[in-house]
Parts: sequence; structure tokens; C-alpha cells
Amino acid sequence: MICAGIETTAHTFGVGICDENGNILANVRDTYKPKAGWGIVPMQARKHHEDVAESVMGQALSEAGISERDIDALAVSQGPGLPPCLYAGMNYSAELSAKLKKPLMGVNHCVAHIEIGRLMTKLKDPVTLYVSGANTQIIAYTAGRYRIFGETQDIGIGNALDKFGRAAGLQFPHGPKIEELAAKGRWTGMPYVVKGMDLSFSGIVTEAAKKLNSGEPLNDVCFSLQESMFSMVTEVIERALAHTGKSEVLLTGGVAANKRLQEMIGIMCSERGAKSAAVPLEYSGDNGAMIAWTGILAHKNGQKPLGSEPEVLPRWRTDESEIPWMQR
Ligand code: ATP
Ligand code: FE2
Repeated sequence: MICAGIETTAHTFGVGICDENGNILANVRDTYKPKAGWGIVPMQARKHHEDVAESVMGQALSEAGISERDIDALAVSQGPGLPPCLYAGMNYSAELSAKLKKPLMGVNHCVAHIEIGRLMTKLKDPVTLYVSGANTQIIAYTAGRYRIFGETQDIGIGNALDKFGRAAGLQFPHGPKIEELAAKGRWTGMPYVVKGMDLSFSGIVTEAAKKLNSGEPLNDVCFSLQESMFSMVTEVIERALAHTGKSEVLLTGGVAANKRLQEMIGIMCSERGAKSAAVPLEYSGDNGAMIAWTGILAHKNGQKPLGSEPEVLPRWRTDESEIPWMQR
């Protein structure tokens, strides 16, 4: 079975193609870039996605060496995300599904980040740290669903890094630049905000910007900012491991690329006899392959395809999606 997955929740229009054994045959994307200093303008992102859809699909088909008639099923990220972006993907996918007379599976974007991570790292039943621009969640499978054990109460770590990067006048993308600067910094103190199992980052960003304005070296502020935020998530992951009795940690989402974050979680895991792994860079940000693979899992496990007038689900939470393939 060959499935084509379409991702359009935010800035990326992605098409991935994979088979039922988890071989990724193609993974092509085109990303909308807002003008300097701006965030995503949703209607512009939608237009971008509509404009590039045909050509990205064409490239993916040729990379996979197949024609559209070889597609057995389609999958689309139904949510969560920005409504105009979601509609661009849903309209395109629904039309293609009607034209090819193939089923269209609705996939939860966050679940897809976890599934591509499990596929790539071969971890079986991990506690997952999903750290992207907008999201910071600590997730684990129990009783039929991926449950959220802890999450940010305000912004995600990626957005926190980007916000500080903008305040410091750094070049984009801010996360990798801060990582580079932090490598030459030392600890000068930073707030640490864990509330039960939840986290809060926006006050830390304000404090980091204040420290910079009061003349503290940029390297030190970057180091302290990273150390504090990464220790906070490591603490919550450790408690999720202790509570669930699981022995694996998966890092996924754009911030999972950070080597210091990987190292901290690696140390905590080795002290507990647990294993940790990060999803490879190509699959850590938004991509179509993760939607295609999750579409295969959903299809094989009896999820009903979307009907003729499918809805988008802009606020669809990770724990609102049934995960029958993890049952044993
Ligand atoms: P989502 O919609 O799932 O929240 P997103 O599109 O906002 O995802 P991703 O593409 O998963 O986010 O990740 C982008 C974020 O990752 C940015 O905020 C960027 O600064 C951050 N990032 C990328 N590389 C690194 C790094 N090496 N260290 C820290 N942060 C990083
Ligand atoms: Fe994402």
C-alpha cells in the first residue's frame, strides 16, 4: 500500500510518500517565509500553499518514481493548526481523493510528529518530548491515547528562543544561533518555572532580555536561558518516566535538534537506565512523510476515512485522537 501525506498546518506545504513497511519514498516541502520581523500572516501562508501544491506533489511523485494512479490512500493533517492553512491542505487533498477515488485519512499533526519519531528511532513506547515553535508537550501512551503529562502554559520553547533572538537582534533562525552562542557562555542565573507537571517560558524570555539590556554578555544569557528551559523539561520528563514506568524518551519537533537538550536528557536517562533518541533533522520539523506514515497506521487499524465534506480541526489536541495501533 502506498500513501501520500499532505502537511499544511502552518508555514510548510509538504508532501510525503511512504509504503506500509515504513519506507519513505519521497519527502518534499516548500516553506512560506514571512517578511523579516513578521510572524506568519495566515492568509498569505494559505495562498503560498495553494500556489505550490501541484508542483510539490509533482516533485514528490517523481522522487518516489510513481504516478498518482499508484497512490492507494491519501492522508492530510486535519489539525491542530492555523485554519486558513488547514483549509488549503484539506481542500487540495479532498479534491485529489475524489479525483483518484482513494480514501482520505485525517491525521492529528502532533500524533504524526510522534509516529515519525518512533519509526525513525525504533523506540517502541517512549515518553515523548514534543518541542517545536508553538508546542512544548511531554506525552506518553496510556489507555488508548497519547496522554499529555505536562505542557507549556504559555509559549513553546521554540517561540521563546525566537522571541529572545529577535530581542537580541540575532539572525534567523534563532534556535541554532542561540545554541552556538550558548556553547561559549556560562551560568549567570535565570528563573526556573515548573508548576506541577506544567511549564512556563514567557517570563524567562522577559528576564533574559532584561539581563542583556543591563549589559550581561550575550553568550552567558544564551547559555543560562537554554540551561534553565532545558532543565525544566528534563525534570518533567523524568517524573513522567517515573510515573509511567517507561524506559525510553523520544525527542521530536524543531527544537529536538539542539545538542545540549539531547545531552541533558541523555544524562538523565542514563542515570535511570533508560534510552533516549532524537528524530533525524529531516523529519523533526513539519513534513509530509510523517502524515503519510500516520495515515498508513490509521488505515491499517480501521480508522474511517473522511467523508465528502471534511472539516478541519484547528484545536485538535494530541489526547483527542484514538491510537489503536499502540494497543497490545
Ligand atoms: P509546530 O507547528 O509543530 O509547533 P513549528 O513549525 O512551529 O511547529 P518546527 O519547524 O518544529 O516548529 O520548529 C521550529 C523551531 O525550532 C523554531 O522555533 C526554531 O528556533 C527551533 N529550532 C531549530 N533548530 C534549533 C536548535 N538547534 N536549537 C533550538 N531550537 C531550534
Ligand atoms: Fe509541527
